[in-house]
Amino acid sequence: MQVKVVIGTVAFMLTMIVLGYAALREPTRLEDFAGAAHGRSVEQGAYLYINNCASCHGIDGTATSGEDNGCRDANGDPNCLGLPLNNYFLLCGNPPRRSIDLGWEGTTENFIKKTVAAGRGAIMPAWSNDFGGPMRPDQVQNVTNYVLNWGSEELCAEEPITFPWPEFGPGAAEAFQSLTDPVEIMAGDPELGAQVYLSNGCNACHGLPDGTAAATVGPSLTEIATNGAERIEGYSAQDYIYESILAPNAFISPECPNGPCTSPSLMPGTFALTLSRNPQDMANLLAYLMGDAYTHP
Ligand code: HEC
Ligand code: HEC
Repeated sequence: MQVKVVIGTVAFMLTMIVLGYAALREPTRLEDFAGAAHGRSVEQGAYLYINNCASCHGIDGTATSGEDNGCRDANGDPNCLGLPLNNYFLLCGNPPRRSIDLGWEGTTENFIKKTVAAGRGAIMPAWSNDFGGPMRPDQVQNVTNYVLNWGSEELCAEEPITFPWPEFGPGAAEAFQSLTDPVEIMAGDPELGAQVYLSNGCNACHGLPDGTAAATVGPSLTEIATNGAERIEGYSAQDYIYESILAPNAFISPECPNGPCTSPSLMPGTFALTLSRNPQDMANLLAYLMGDAYTHP
């Protein structure tokens, strides 16, 4: 009888100890579980990203063309049409600069999720089933978690230097407001600029600036570093080239190879989308076209 009571008491105490221990452990187990679930979500998001987003935003999310960052435009050329996502101004700061600029009052997570779900503008598709896109809401969440994952301590450690793009003439301003997005940028490299010139097909209309191929549709650019300064009152040649590329209709050049240039411009307006979002490409292109007269702002 006595023995039974003792065994009973000991068993009861052991049970309580085990239960108590389990209860104490529960929050950590929940955390581990949540951590593992988040990890799986980011991993799933990575697959979704590479297959669906890298073609416009780049494999590394920086939307920089060059190397092979996976970007392809409608012609199959390696231009990134999307905005940089692996980017200080989207992911760092409280709230990040992009949220402020676009008047978003919610969290960064919801900003990204909403943009991905519903799409934005003419190029960024809607991805969620809810908006007629191909992804389930949990997939939108996964790819959002993957993008957020870039907001590392390292990325957010220091605010990048901003590049003071030249001012624009009145006609150009509204056409590409997003150009005021601050980005880090080095002095242009003319050799890389030559590649940007060719990969964007500038040569098809303007020939080559060294004169070895003649201009056909647009003006020859052999003298642009000097005569560019004569086109618009108050513009340096470099500002003029910059604006001509981004907003061809802001000013129509006087002389084209087959007579006066026509209005609207025959030059595509799409470079504002591609080059403004890859400002290093633009700096390189300016260095190429300006030669020794190039100045890095
Ligand atoms: C066909 C090209 C294209 C594809 C594919 C694409 N995007 Fe975009 N994305 C864009 C463009 C262009 C914008 C800028 C839209 C605007 O502001 O007009 C953009 C904007 C965004 C933004 C907002 C960035 C900011 O700073 O405001 C996010 C976030 C984003 N895309 C995520 C994604 C994700 C995630 C995927 C894959 C599921 C994806 N995009 C696929 C072209 C694309
Ligand atoms: C489809 C033909 C075409 C392509 C491609 C093209 N342009 Fe043009 N470009 C023109 C035409 C036509 C004009 C003159 C009308 C105007 O002012 O927009 C022009 C004007 C210019 C001017 C002003 C020249 C001056 O003397 O006033 C510059 C600078 C320029 N383009 C640079 C470029 C660069 C750099 C590229 C590639 C990123 C490019 N263009 C691609 C047709 C083209």
